[in-house]
Parts: sequence; structure tokens; C-alpha cells
Amino acid sequence: MSENSATSKPIVNRLVVIGLGLIGSSLAKAARELGFAQQVVGISRRQSTLEIALQAGVIDRAEASLADVASELTTGDLVVIGVPTLTVAQVLKDCRDLLAADVSITDVASVKGSVVAAAKSLYGQMPPQLVPGHPIAGSEKSGVTAANSKLFAEHRIILTPNQNTGQQHLDLVTQLWTATGAIVSNMDVREHDEILAATSHLPHFLAYSLVDTLAAMGDNREIFRYAAGGFRDFTRIAASDPVMWRDIALANRESILTILDQVMDNFKEMRSAIEAGDQDYLMATFTRARDARNHFGKILESKALQTGIQSAMTEKTINYVVSPGGNAQADLRVPGDKSMSHRSIMLGSLAEGMTEVTGFLEGEDSLATLQSFRDMGVQIEGPDQGRVVIHGVGLQGLKAPSKPLYLGNSGTSIRLLSGLLAGQSFDTELTGDESLSGRPMGRVADPLREMGAQIETAEGGRPPLKIKGGQTLKAIDYSMPMASAQVKSCVLLAGLYAQGTTSVVEPAPTRDHTERMLRGFGYQVSSQGSKASLSGGGSLNATRIDVPADISSAAFFMVAAAIVPGSDIMLRHVGVNPTRVGVINILRQMGTSIELSNQTEVGGEPVADIRVRYAPLQGIDIPEDQVPLAIDEFPVLFVAAACAQGTTVLTGAEELRVKESDRIQSMADGLITLGIDAQPTADGIKIVGGQLGSGEVQSHDDHRIAMAFTIAALRSSGTIVVREANNVATSFPDFVGLARQIGLNIELTQSQ
Ligand code: S3P
Repeated sequence: MSENSATSKPIVNRLVVIGLGLIGSSLAKAARELGFAQQVVGISRRQSTLEIALQAGVIDRAEASLADVASELTTGDLVVIGVPTLTVAQVLKDCRDLLAADVSITDVASVKGSVVAAAKSLYGQMPPQLVPGHPIAGSEKSGVTAANSKLFAEHRIILTPNQNTGQQHLDLVTQLWTATGAIVSNMDVREHDEILAATSHLPHFLAYSLVDTLAAMGDNREIFRYAAGGFRDFTRIAASDPVMWRDIALANRESILTILDQVMDNFKEMRSAIEAGDQDYLMATFTRARDARNHFGKILESKALQTGIQSAMTEKTINYVVSPGGNAQADLRVPGDKSMSHRSIMLGSLAEGMTEVTGFLEGEDSLATLQSFRDMGVQIEGPDQGRVVIHGVGLQGLKAPSKPLYLGNSGTSIRLLSGLLAGQSFDTELTGDESLSGRPMGRVADPLREMGAQIETAEGGRPPLKIKGGQTLKAIDYSMPMASAQVKSCVLLAGLYAQGTTSVVEPAPTRDHTERMLRGFGYQVSSQGSKASLSGGGSLNATRIDVPADISSAAFFMVAAAIVPGSDIMLRHVGVNPTRVGVINILRQMGTSIELSNQTEVGGEPVADIRVRYAPLQGIDIPEDQVPLAIDEFPVLFVAAACAQGTTVLTGAEELRVKESDRIQSMADGLITLGIDAQPTADGIKIVGGQLGSGEVQSHDDHRIAMAFTIAALRSSGTIVVREANNVATSFPDFVGLARQIGLNIELTQSQ
């Protein structure tokens, strides 16, 4: 056992670190300080390095070569190859010749393909004892004198095991890195090298190249004197270790060349645009880049992600700890309507001319739609306090995106876009987060295929969707098997590109924002009873759109007022389209006092102020015709039912099972945890009103479940902990701020 503080149980017997550079010596130091190795052996060819390492307490024992310790090593011992990338092969050869097969081996090289190739050629195949690894941590300082035992804390370590890798070796290496405070994940070798080429290697080469270019210019001292903030920030990494970066450039040649070519093409285009004074190109490129940077900024700022890899996996989970009570008195305006915000970007992009949108919802879902159109070459300014200006490109003006369109959590984005993209001349691929990747897309793929579209889905009709461009679409008369505005909108949007008149018949009325907004853009759409139709081949004219507040977000505060005695909440400028007012009808039927005032029409959509006051709530049988009109409001309506006198029964709502989560199950589980008698059924739920208690509920990453249980705390007897509330930002970015205005006491906590 090392003399230094042994704070945790040893994970490995002997930790042998070959190469005492920054990474190797930092790992050795961490192992000694935290006591997770019985003995830390440092190996270096340089005597002076070994002496410094011993003196500085980085290692327990110093050796000049692996041969000096190899025969002592057995199961539970770990050899870490910490030498520069191109030297790994040489050390691996020693490992093959000297180490028993039960000794674990890992490395820390920044490129993994070359390590795996060297191992395969030396051993004939990947040896089970080798777990290739890459700690994404570093500094511009190098060598043993810079050893820092905290270097890996909250940084990512990527391991690239394959099917040959022995589980005991993988476990050991994983435990070791975890003990340093790092976040360990596994990845495919090729994927690792491609991602790192783009996010880490390329920026280093750009920085080296820029400094070198300026350094070569005449009296460079003069130039550097004037090179201030931007230059300093951009070139910080050009102070890194040249040997390491030479090795990386050579070891990851293929991936680096691919990304360098892309950047050089981009540079060439930018050069021509500057030469030609092409303002549009420059604006579009800079705006796109700025917005992408802002989008990832949040993620990049988090310490765990100083890794150069943007990945939602590493985002921390946000939980709400909500104390009971609150007054439910307020005058509020909730954010813009999500459905209309999506459609404003889609139609504005496809219109001729400039569309100005105000009241746009700056939530992650609608921003995902916005980013997709930027990815397809549309210049979009903003959003800036809800104002967005879209430079429409016309129905035929979209450009092929260079990568799959990522739609996050948003079902509306993926389903509506699939209709639009089925009619383009180029191929596209649509992907999303874990929740979206589990949602059914056959409902849009089926009618689109009938129209002649070529769409591939993953197993079970799930995303990703691969849409083949250049197909001729023909109009269809489609009878929807389910009441879905997303499916209706998808088919109608494909109909814009089809020959003939496309019509959709719905089994029950669903939100009609697509039809209304298309008319606002001057496109003829006929609605007769349950049938909406349009003919392909027209064009859209840019317009102004004022997006009203989202009734689905207002619903949380309507229910807040409905469950708190003495409450009085005014909600301003809310969209009250008749296809969206189920929540008003249901709450009124349960006894709540709801008054509408200032009723007007804005851009073809009815809008009103809604005042909600408490009156005792009664359980009801919810009329099935209200289900599609309140489809997104059920999570919070279930909270109203839990606070009502008697039983509330919902039927005909099987669609709730395929929303962002299975909302019937998620709500039933949470309500039961809080002591309410809630019985889920195949197409609904039965809830017996009672006293809400306290407890920890899972939102299953579903924004509306998280918000519904937050509102429940107004009437709970104890604290409600809502797990996984990150996705509240998809539809209601400042929910917590507004909830605090009605007296809710919400504390935000983070967990891994
Ligand atoms: C939406 C339609 C609804 C709704 C979703 C938004 C839309 O989905 O749940 O939040 O904007 O068209 P379905 O049409 O699948 O019911």
C-alpha cells in the first residue's frame, strides 16, 4: 500500500505506467493519492524523469523497462501504455513478449485505429487482455512536472473494446478510470477516430496553421503585438506538445484528411463569397455557425464536456424538488404555441419572400425544426425574444443537408418534415433522441408510400427515417386510422408536392393549424366536415405570423387555479382554436370557473385572455369527443382528477401511450407513488380523487409529466421530487420561473 493517503479500496494490485508524460503521470499520481493501487510502478527510459516522479510522489517504484517488473505481474495487475501514439506499437510488442495473458493492458493514445491495428498484427487478433482507451483530458503543459491527480475528474474516458475483449479486463479498466472521477463510456474504434478528428484534431491543426502562417509573415512581432483576444482564444491549443500532434496527424490520417478536405472546401467557398461580395452567403454561413455554436455552447460549457464531443449522454439530469403549497394567484403570459411555431418555420422557409414571426416558442422542439431548415440552406434570423425572420426559398429551394437532420425530442418535427421531404429532389435522414427513436413512424411512412414516396424506417417503423429524394408523388385520398394532426399535416405537406388533389379524412377533429396557416400563406386549402384537401403545384407567399401563447402550456396554470382554493389566475393572449380547447371544456365540466375575454382573431387563429378561478372539482367521465381536443393536456388533467371529489374516467385515449412517454403509465405510476388510487386501462385511466402525498416520481424524460407533477405539489401534503425534468425546455423554457410566480417552491438539483 502506498504511504500516501489511501482513501479508497485498491482496485488494482500493481499499476504499471509506461511513459510518464502528462497523462501517464497524472493517472499514477491519482492512483497514489486516492489509494486505488497497491503499488504504482513508473517506467521511463529517462532516469531524470523517474527521479522527479519518485520525488514528487507520483510513483512508488521506478523501473527503466517493462522487463524489470513483467515477471511479477499477474491477474489484477494493470499495465497502462502512456507513450506517444506512434510509440504504442513498440511497447505493445514488449507486452506481447513479456506479459502473461491474465495481466490487463490499456493505453491512452488519442487515436485508436492505429493501436488496434498494431495489436492485431502483433498478436494475430485483438488480445482479450487489451482494452484500448482514450482519456479526453489534457493541458498545454506536458511531462511529469505537470502531473495533476485531478486531471480526469468529470472528463470523459472513451474505451473501445471489441468482441474479443475480456470482461474482467474491461471491468478493471472501467473501475480504474471511474475512480479518478472520470465518466467512462464505450465506443466503436472507427467512430471514435472520426469524431475526434473533427472535434479535437482538426481544431489543433487549424490553430497550428494559423499561428504558423502569421509567424511566417515578415516582422511577426509587430503582428502578434496587435493579435488580441480572438487570436489568443483561437490559438491557445497551438502551444500543445508537437510530438503528440505529429503522431496523431499520422496515426489518424484518413479521418483527418476527410475533415480537412471539408474545411478547405468551405474556406474556398468563403473566399469566393468574400471576393464576390456575396452578402447572403456570408450572412447565412455566419448565422448558421453562430446559432450552432450557441446551441452547443450550453453543452460545451459543462465541465464534463471539455471533451470536444457533443453528446446528450453526458448532460446532467435535472430534478425538481417541489415543496408543498402555493397561492395560484397571478397574471401570466406563457410562451408561444409549439404547434404553430413549428409550422411557421416550415411554411416560412418554403414561401417566396421574407416571413416575420413574433411570439415564436424558443423551446428545444421548435428550435430543432428551425435548425433543420438552416441545415437545408434557409437563412433564418433569430430567434430574438420570440422574433424570427425567415428568408423563404420557395417550395423548390431547399438544399440537401450535409448530415442527418437531428430532431431531438420532437415528434411534430419528424412527422411533418417527413411529408415535406418526401417531395424533395435530395435524400434525407431524420433522427432524434432516445424517446423519439422509440416512437411509431409507420403512421406517416404508410400514407407517404401510398403517394409514391420512398421511405425506410428502422425496425418496428421507428426512426431514423431515410427518405429518398427525386420521387414523383401522386395525390391520395387518405382516411386516417387515428385522430392525429401530425399525420394529417404530414400528408397535406407532401400534397404540396404531389400531382392532383390530396385529401385527408380524420376520424375525429384534430388541431387544424396547418390548414389555417397554409391559407395565411395564400395557399388554397378546403376543409369540409372531416375532410381537408389541397392541390399540389401552387406556391406560398411570405407573411407575418403572430404566434399566441400555447394553451397546452397555459393548461398547467389552469389546473393550478382549478385545484387551489382561493386561486385566481389570468392567462394572456392564449390560442383558443376550437380544436385545442378540450382542457377548458373538461375543467368547466369538472366545476372550474373559466372566463374568456378580449377574444380576437390573429392571423386566422382565435385568441383570448383566460381567467381561471377555483371552485370545488367533481370527478367526471371525460367525453371521448374531447380527447383529441385535449390530447396534450391529460397529464395535468389527471392531477386535477386526483384533487377532485369522486372518480374521473378517461377512455378512448390510447394515443397517450405513444407520446413522449407512455403517458397513461407514467402518470398512473407517479400518482400511485403519491398515494392516489389510479388504475390504468388499455385506452385510458380511472382516478379516484384523494389526498396527494409526497414522494419521488419519474417523468421518463417527458416534459409534460414533469410539469404536471410539479403542479401537483400545490395540493400535496409533502415534498414531491420530480426526476428527469430536463425536457421541460422542449416546450416551456421558463416553466420554473412562472411556476414560482404562483408560489411554488421549486429547487433544482442535478444528478448523473
Ligand atoms: C401536434 C399534434 C399532436 C400533439 C403534439 C403536437 C401537432 O400529436 O400531441 O404535441 O403539432 O400537430 P398527434 O397529432 O400525433 O396527436
